[in-house]
Amino acid sequence: MLYPEHIPFTEALLQWFHTTARPLPWRGHYDPYAVWISEIMLQQTQMERGVLYYKRWMEKFPTLAHVANAHDEEILKAWEGLGYYSRARNLHKAAQRVMHEHAGVFPENYEDIRSLPGIGDYTAGAIASIAYNVPVAAVDANVRRVFARIFDIDTPIAGSAADDFIRHMAEALIPEGKARLFNQALMELGALICNKAPRCLHCPVNSFCRAYSLGIVAERPILGKKTEYTALEIISGVLVHQGRIFIQKRPESGVWAGFWEFPGGKLEAGETPEQGICREFLEETEFSINVTHSFGTVRHAYTRYRITMHCFACCLSPCANVRPARESLPLADSLDPTFPIPTLHAATEYRWATFSDLDALTFPAGHRKFMEMYRSQLEQIMQEGCSEAAG
Ligand code: ADE
Repeated sequence: MLYPEHIPFTEALLQWFHTTARPLPWRGHYDPYAVWISEIMLQQTQMERGVLYYKRWMEKFPTLAHVANAHDEEILKAWEGLGYYSRARNLHKAAQRVMHEHAGVFPENYEDIRSLPGIGDYTAGAIASIAYNVPVAAVDANVRRVFARIFDIDTPIAGSAADDFIRHMAEALIPEGKARLFNQALMELGALICNKAPRCLHCPVNSFCRAYSLGIVAERPILGKKTEYTALEIISGVLVHQGRIFIQKRPESGVWAGFWEFPGGKLEAGETPEQGICREFLEETEFSINVTHSFGTVRHAYTRYRITMHCFACCLSPCANVRPARESLPLADSLDPTFPIPTLHAATEYRWATFSDLDALTFPAGHRKFMEMYRSQLEQIMQEGCSEAAG
């Protein structure tokens, strides 16, 4: 239901959106598949990067059927770098459900959309309203911030009282037949004007904003507890042998399930990073290795962790008792019998990989960052053999 006194507010907002909306690639045709992919990606990253990923995804998977029929690894590869890989796995499962249960047509009904894997209240509301113009709210962090200021909400916005109020207002204010435009206009206002550093003088609805009229915009929204971050020290080693790098595939459950990686793990109390990487290789592969080069560190963030990863090049220890065999090269093209076989304790598969293998496979973001930061040194080490590569 629309409250008559709010009509000038919604009109001012829609007028602003009409003239200012960014020309995003899914705006215009509002194909449900496109809206769905964009919404899931935008939960993971900022708009600019989201658009790049979106365009790449659409080239690879032009329709929902392409997603449903893709192999798991192709889906993960297209998602690589966005993080929260369960979102990519859920996209895959949801596409398969739509093919089987809805004859390949993305559902229109809010409840049907909400029941698909990986789709919560916000995403269901965003898809139903943006793709199908269904009058349901789509309340994300942007919309919460906008409403906390417009209505001067003086309780934490994550709390249930504020949440119920915002949800109610976000739906009640939708003008008839304009859910698609109204919901996007609210998101756009939150992203472009009413953001963390608000530009109130440029705001099309500042005359309706209670926090603005009271001069307390900077005090809204009231946030709950801040996330506490945990610092983690990780070690990671690139084992080079005859121009190839040893990589292993993580198990199908747990963190980064099914991803390829360089062996490594958490640094233990009292050990140096060099000692740590030798221990990890022994524990995970039973390879005895020597560190030949220290690349330095790579820093990255993962959920509530702040990670410092110490990165090394290594070679097999000359006295190592490794098992050489032809079968140790399941996917590489060389049949050189001198590539040793690991005994895997933390992986389901391994490869002695070339550089182009590394580019084609899916790695956790920290490992990808490592390869990108130190690519030329890595290439040099692979060409020259690790023992000759210096600093
Ligand atoms: N953030 C998430 N979804 C969005 C959309 N459809 N438009 C603008 N910003 C968004």
